[in-house]
Amino acid sequence: MTSRIDGPLKVTGQAKYGADNLFPDTLHGYIVLSTVANGEITAMDVTAAKSAPGVVGVYTPFDVLKLDKAVSSVFGETWVPLQTKEVAYYGQPIGVVVAETYEQARDAAMTVEVTYDEKPAVTSFTDGLATAEEPPEIRGGAPNEMSVLADGVESIEDALAASPVVVDNTYFTATQHHTPMEPHSAVARWDAAGLTIYSGNQAAHLQAEELSTALGVDRSQVRCINPFVGGAFGGKARTSAAGFLAAAAARALDRPVKVVMSREQVFTATAGRAATAQRIALGADKDGKLIALRHDSVSSTGMDRSFVEPTSHGTSREWYATKNLHISQKMVPLNIPPVTYMRAPGEAPGSFALESAMDELAIALNMDPIELRLRNNSTAPPGKDLLWSSKHLDECYQIGAMRFGWANRSPHGHEDGDWLVGMGTATAMFPGLRFPATVRATFKADDTAEVGTGGADPGTGLLTVLALVGAESLDIAPDRVTPVLGDSALPPGGLSGGSTATASAGSATMVAAVELIDQLVKLATSAGAPFEGLEVTYEGGRVLADGRSMTFGELLRATGRTELTATGSSAPGEELTKHSFSSFGAQFVEVKVHKLTREARVTRMLGVFDAGRIINEKTARSQLSGGMIWGVSAALHEGIEIEPSGRFANADLAGYLVPVNADIPDIGVHFVQYPDTLHSDLGAKGVGEIGVVGVAAAVANAIHNATGIRVRHIPIRIEDLLDS
Ligand code: MOS
Repeated sequence: MTSRIDGPLKVTGQAKYGADNLFPDTLHGYIVLSTVANGEITAMDVTAAKSAPGVVGVYTPFDVLKLDKAVSSVFGETWVPLQTKEVAYYGQPIGVVVAETYEQARDAAMTVEVTYDEKPAVTSFTDGLATAEEPPEIRGGAPNEMSVLADGVESIEDALAASPVVVDNTYFTATQHHTPMEPHSAVARWDAAGLTIYSGNQAAHLQAEELSTALGVDRSQVRCINPFVGGAFGGKARTSAAGFLAAAAARALDRPVKVVMSREQVFTATAGRAATAQRIALGADKDGKLIALRHDSVSSTGMDRSFVEPTSHGTSREWYATKNLHISQKMVPLNIPPVTYMRAPGEAPGSFALESAMDELAIALNMDPIELRLRNNSTAPPGKDLLWSSKHLDECYQIGAMRFGWANRSPHGHEDGDWLVGMGTATAMFPGLRFPATVRATFKADDTAEVGTGGADPGTGLLTVLALVGAESLDIAPDRVTPVLGDSALPPGGLSGGSTATASAGSATMVAAVELIDQLVKLATSAGAPFEGLEVTYEGGRVLADGRSMTFGELLRATGRTELTATGSSAPGEELTKHSFSSFGAQFVEVKVHKLTREARVTRMLGVFDAGRIINEKTARSQLSGGMIWGVSAALHEGIEIEPSGRFANADLAGYLVPVNADIPDIGVHFVQYPDTLHSDLGAKGVGEIGVVGVAAAVANAIHNATGIRVRHIPIRIEDLLDS
């Protein structure tokens, strides 16, 4: 158990986040946002702003900082600000004012007068459900609609009609936002070598790709630096408006420019999570075996239609063994800010619907909800031949039930003084993915080593994991390994997204270490070297032969070198044709609902996870408990209120509720550890996202157990729990 090695730097304020990079002469940019949700800007009067104290530049669609299409190898095209007069949502970046100080820029920005040719805004998700559209593309290129039907079954309707027990309901999840602690920001500086930009993100090399294409400069002239990132969760996967505007303004003005979004701006000037409506129909036999599973999902999206929250595809396609499966995915484009990846995209809202429905089915069958899930345990995703590489979900449930005291649960909860007490459970899954990654490993003459890659640690613990995997692979103590992340000058290290970073960078680290040791051995035995012509072995950081040994540092010094470097790459490959990969988990929640006030409080939580090998239990536990807190937050707190005008009514942390310490009890996290070496040599699958999956359903199921009230939407509020 290793503590986060960047922890002391962070808690003592020494860690330099993007906006902490101050250079002499730095200018400050303040973004101007639209105040209508649909229409065209017909004029922007910037006269007052331009003559305001300290102002050196005002840029708008009329006086534009030219940016081309921004494209990255992973995310395709990304929106760039100010290139159009069209407004598609309230709070869209439409200008930037640059001044000597932040206050001057902000004050001047307030004086910009915008005239719009305003059109009616389409902002109601529920009104749009009836006319939902086919999405252009779903994650992984999956079809919008797909069926797997047993032999002789004509349609999913027939399969449902033939099922002795059916539950069929629609569930709703709210629009959410990542609200990372560090607002989106950037400090950009140009010199003869090109652009250097300091901006928190999830992958330095992808930002470099996006910025170089947008700015029309060679990729080698853009360097993105982000050693510390104050939370991302999918919301910093792409370059933000702050990044594009800081870079372009710094070039135009030939001075460093810093742009920091205010907390309120982050809500609309960056993308959030879609609202969803999901109809789930489950048909089962009397023993609880699923006969049919139908999941029709609709997600909100921005007018750019750039992302669809893949709820059906993320959940029902893979979770339970069923003979007949039908999923579909549609979207409702609205005049709202764009939506994007947010921690467990698809699975987080999808699992609320599916796992609530499974609870409803258990009740209809008069069966324990764990028993129902065990009876439908899948050995492969329905309709696929590829078996799970490793799956121990049943053990997660068994251990979890024992540790949580599930046997004490009564079908109708129990009372504790003025409180109604209930327990709920839900399955968690998140696909086991990884990306191509390259890692650079270096032996140094002072007997330390460095392991570096361009990936990011947005609070996940990747930096610590990199040191541990590096130490293990180089067979030296972790405190002799310096991990380095967050610099596009390093080899591209995958991205911190999709719960992939450990498996991606870790696998590449193993390859790099083998290569580095190989080179060290060659150096040791080369002509004139201390072990010339001998058969040497490497162990514990030493080269050995003939009863003699030298550390790698000694060897480097003896051969007149300061360091020795190797790179290693690893990418998913053949294994994808042989198995299906996923992390699994069982979530347990106890709630108390006050009899009179109807306040719901989560009082106990336990998650038991099967995520392959756990490299560092301390940081993994922190990832999972963080995810579980997100789940409580989704269940009871979070939701953007969109006014008919398209304005977000609660775009701040006073009105957009996230849990505080008092909302969250002690959280139990337990691992069943089965290293999945079919997935990668490292044996680790992801832990970044699965923690949130299923929790909102477990909370809703516990509330039902306590009160008898089934709430089919989140967040669940007091008014939903008034005695019926
Ligand atoms: Mo994420 S939603 O894993 O960037």
